[in-house]
Amino acid sequence: MGDARLLQMAETISDFGGDELRSLLADMRDTMQALNGAGLAAPQIGVGLRVVIFGVQDQGGGASRYPDADTVPETVLINPFITPVDDEIIDDWEGCLSVPGLRGLVPRYSTIRYQGFDEYGALIDRTVSGFHARVVQHECDHLDGILYPMRITDLRNFGYKDVLFPDSSQQDE
Ligand code: NI
Repeated sequence: MGDARLLQMAETISDFGGDELRSLLADMRDTMQALNGAGLAAPQIGVGLRVVIFGVQDQGGGASRYPDADTVPETVLINPFITPVDDEIIDDWEGCLSVPGLRGLVPRYSTIRYQGFDEYGALIDRTVSGFHARVVQHECDHLDGILYPMRITDLRNFGYKDVLFPDSSQQDE
């Protein structure tokens, strides 16, 4: 947070299946794995393109990163478009690999439809709720230069993860 590249509008991808995109996705997957995140957007590694990845697997057990989260399929989403299904908004805690060590309570649409393309240019069209919907909204915000602290409605609900959740093993994003 503080890097101007995180505040810019990312550019639409037009070339699917090329070496540049393949290399970008490899970098993004490595970064997300190394930092134990649930998602990552290209601007977070300094690349201003409309590409996000996300996924949470293997819930349950001691190694679980998001004990309360639903499983979210490993997804590459390019040029995403989000449509809220209704007006229901829910608050929940978020973190971000670009805002390390902090957590904030963020309002998001409860249920969304998201559309976009995978890395080969195939259409993705899903309607999802809960944590899955939250992760997609958070990651796609990065493509419009929006970080989650900008969406916190009461800054009293923003603080250090270790202070807010001293017993939690939750990671940053
Ligand atoms: Ni983030």
